[in-house]
Amino acid sequence: MPSPDPQSTCGLVGQTPINPQAPCGGLQPICPIESRLPPHEPEQIPLRTLQFKRGLLHELRKGNATKDQIRLHNLVQQLPRAIIIGVRKGGTRALLEMLNLHPAVVKASQEIHFFDNDQNYARGIDWYREKMPFSFPHQITIEKSPAYFITEEVPERIFKMNSSIKLLIIVREPTTRAVSDYTQVLEGKERKNKTYHKFEKLAIDSNTCEVNTKYKAVRTSIYTKHLERWLKYFPVEQFHIVDGDRLITDPLPELQLVERFLNLPSRISQYNLYFNATRGFYCLRFNIVFNKCLAGSKGRIHPEVDPSVVSKLQRFFHPFNQKFYQITVSLAVENG
Ligand code: A3P
Repeated sequence: MPSPDPQSTCGLVGQTPINPQAPCGGLQPICPIESRLPPHEPEQIPLRTLQFKRGLLHELRKGNATKDQIRLHNLVQQLPRAIIIGVRKGGTRALLEMLNLHPAVVKASQEIHFFDNDQNYARGIDWYREKMPFSFPHQITIEKSPAYFITEEVPERIFKMNSSIKLLIIVREPTTRAVSDYTQVLEGKERKNKTYHKFEKLAIDSNTCEVNTKYKAVRTSIYTKHLERWLKYFPVEQFHIVDGDRLITDPLPELQLVERFLNLPSRISQYNLYFNATRGFYCLRFNIVFNKCLAGSKGRIHPEVDPSVVSKLQRFFHPFNQKFYQITVSLAVENG
């Protein structure tokens, strides 16, 4: 595995691709896809067809199934065996929806916020389980709540529930992620007719002219700081990092890596993913009759940001990225 080369910044000041040998364009790929595809023996699990998944389970999710149907099909509400813990605006919804294409995966549709919200956490693990969708016993349930990644108490709480749980983190180039975060908050403020500062004003401290590390959108993008907290509880091999920039441009290889990490047979194919030129993103094809794109709130147009501020942020994130790179390389080796 190559060691990070600070010189190799694709000519962009301060921009550090996770893999220095990767083509320019942010945080991708974490390391060459081929080296992240170890030979493996997937679990032998009986698989239902996607049509079936869109049938009974879909009805169940809408609350339309009877108790007899639940008993007859031996359906259960299972605690998640994998959680997408973040990062906010990294592409968490796209990742969950795309994984849900797999016949052995069942997603919790809503963000449950069990581990990051004290009130929910106090309701206990049975409350959490009851929030889970019905599934067949051989299927695995996945939930996503991106606030988990940055919330202090969460690693310990998840560890107490299941110390061998698999943890998925999806990251994007940190400055882009921060702007995406800002754009989401801005939209909320505009909806409520509230005034809001420009990104530049929030991201740069006007007294020092340095990056404002008190700004949450900046802090969230310091991935390595958060990951280090998680590593106090979980060994590296329980994490898998998804390259969110690549999930946008070429999702299938990233999804195949996740299938392997979850020890699932490869079932998501190019058939399940088609590029929708109007949306400018990949959309999902479950079967011949059922397609869907993500909601319009995913894939917002970002405001223009002063290029000098972008460069300053990229320079700021550079050392943190280097560290994150080192951890994720060891992670790829462990998982390989
Ligand atoms: P932008 O709105 O900034 O473009 P999250 O689900 O964690 O909130 O992440 C939202 C981001 O997912 C979007 O950020 C978008 O770029 C990204 N994304 C990745 N794949 C997507 C897809 N197929 N459709 C829509 N958005 C996708």
